[in-house]
Amino acid sequence: MRSRFFAFLLLGGALPVAAQPASLLPVPTSVRTGTGRFSIDSTTSIAITGHSDPRLERAISRLLHRLSRRIAQPMSRSITRTATPRSIAIDVAGPGMPVQGIDENERYTLTVGADGTTLQAATTVGALRGLETLLQLVVGDGTSFYLDAVSIADEPRFAWRGLLVDVSRHFMPIEQLKRTLDGMALVKLNVFHWHLSDDQGFRVESKHFPKLHELGSDGLYYTQQEVRDLVAYARDRGIRVVPEFDMPGHSTSWFVGYPQYSAQRPPIAIRREWGGADAIFDPTKEATYTFIARFLDEMIPLFPDAYWHIGGDEVEGKHWDSNPEIVAWRTRHGFRDNHALQLHFNTRLATLLSRHGKRMVGWDEILHPDLPPRTVVQSWRGTQYLANSAKQGFTGILSAPWYLDHIKPATEYYTADPVPQFDELTPAQQRLIIGGEACIWAEFITAETADSRIWPRLGAVAERLWSPRTVTDVADMYRRLDILTDRLEGLGLRVRSHPARMLATIAPGFDTAPVESLFTAVQPPSFGQSANGIRPNQWHPLTRLVDAARPDPDGRWLTERLVRRVARDPNDAAARDSLLVLFERWSLLLPRVEALGARSPTMAQGVAAARALARSAVIGTEAIGFLAAGRQAPAAWAAAAAAELKRYDAPQGLLRVAIVGEVRKLLAMASPPNDE
Ligand code: ACM
Repeated sequence: MRSRFFAFLLLGGALPVAAQPASLLPVPTSVRTGTGRFSIDSTTSIAITGHSDPRLERAISRLLHRLSRRIAQPMSRSITRTATPRSIAIDVAGPGMPVQGIDENERYTLTVGADGTTLQAATTVGALRGLETLLQLVVGDGTSFYLDAVSIADEPRFAWRGLLVDVSRHFMPIEQLKRTLDGMALVKLNVFHWHLSDDQGFRVESKHFPKLHELGSDGLYYTQQEVRDLVAYARDRGIRVVPEFDMPGHSTSWFVGYPQYSAQRPPIAIRREWGGADAIFDPTKEATYTFIARFLDEMIPLFPDAYWHIGGDEVEGKHWDSNPEIVAWRTRHGFRDNHALQLHFNTRLATLLSRHGKRMVGWDEILHPDLPPRTVVQSWRGTQYLANSAKQGFTGILSAPWYLDHIKPATEYYTADPVPQFDELTPAQQRLIIGGEACIWAEFITAETADSRIWPRLGAVAERLWSPRTVTDVADMYRRLDILTDRLEGLGLRVRSHPARMLATIAPGFDTAPVESLFTAVQPPSFGQSANGIRPNQWHPLTRLVDAARPDPDGRWLTERLVRRVARDPNDAAARDSLLVLFERWSLLLPRVEALGARSPTMAQGVAAARALARSAVIGTEAIGFLAAGRQAPAAWAAAAAAELKRYDAPQGLLRVAIVGEVRKLLAMASPPNDE
């Protein structure tokens, strides 16, 4: 069941029956509806009428598996070469690039009619995109499943549509990464950015330098065979794998085994805390470059992609400044500052990479006019860095607004755009912006919680990167993210099911319904608030109550919609009443959460948030009372309520009440005018 907590509102509300194919995510470039329908049942077959290859055949096999499960009927696995009125014809012109690149043609057309369905694409990757669309088109009536007649022509707005996964802070097993790739394929993302090394862990087996993974990973690393398998798994889904070995900073884990390349003296241990380590490569020694060159010689064959990420972020160079030999070398060679020294390091790396035909990518700190011109800059500190790099002629990708671990609502991720609308960029500079990547940094995220922190919000970013810029309807996005969540669950990802699964670990045998209801309006804190007096490190299991909660809970968006209706029309009694019902349910949770808290310190972590939620709900209820009566709230009451709500902007313990902003809007509507 989607949400027991909200079922009453959904049943009572006049939800429109969705016009098909309105559940597509991302929205295609062009959709023209036709008349008639194409039945999907046991007699439906697949015909490959053009190019075929093993990758396409495996994709069709996965399609049949998923389609068959969707319609709860067996389907024929035999594939013909000629189309019939009962077949889905797959007509692909050729295999596409031997190694998928940013120029891969991902375009497809999908034509559905009563007398057949045809998917046409120039490449196998284009066909993969179309197959995902086809699966999303399946609908049914009381007796059968079918596709409505439609003509879709689709292609991505941006060539680079990615997700960064940090496997250093917390290791993510291969199965977890495969699930992530399955989800990415569903929403037509095409770059898996694998953040493989950082201060807290070095995650790939090295045969040349075994102390990297033996001493730098706590035994949690990928074997080279696992890396090859994952790259192949991604390729099968039309996803490139771009590795990142972050340097010269964020590099503590390298130096546990190989301190001789560090700017600091040994012993050096894996860093267990989060943020701001100063470990850094020594850029003044030739031996450092020989080491990196041999490392790249070994790693590069594992990662066929044309792009290679060197990191380059957050380099202050404290250990450069505190090492007299490095300071003397820097002066002797005329480097003005550490940024100039980092440019020297980056230029050496670019030379090593270009020998292997690789194009260098780095975080926006590497931006410098003297960088090799083919360098790609990934902005994370702010959108302006992307514009700055485009103005200097560098290709760029955007990540700044898309840190999923910052736990913002999907609407914020959705409304960001890689190409600034009112910017001074010329058309040529705009073309240098080739896309973007969402990022999931793993300080406060484990393999157990990753699905729930990535999804469904990643779907909002995926649509921004694929669909036309004009696709911006937030309400429709939330409606489709909800469907996406079901589809992800169907693939085995733990998104909607996350709280129940975690609570089973946290409180076996408890009736956790009150906490699950709490989680409809209470969420994890943003990244900056995650410590809040507590400093978990890498050893923490992250099985606290906050880890069971989900970002952007359903109740926030539901409340926002209802509050917006009341703002438009204070006499909208249906919206007011729905809010009152919600607020009553939330306010009644407190004693039930307290009762659970009396039996477990972990459950007790929810009490402060339950109290803040109850109080916010009471303030909301009172504000609606004034609105309904057409009376202004007394100034003293309004001031006290505003002060109380302000306290609830901060996390309560580690849980944040997600509806405070909406209650504040109701309060403002009910309050006397503010003359400030
Ligand atoms: C970063 O978040 N330091 C790239």
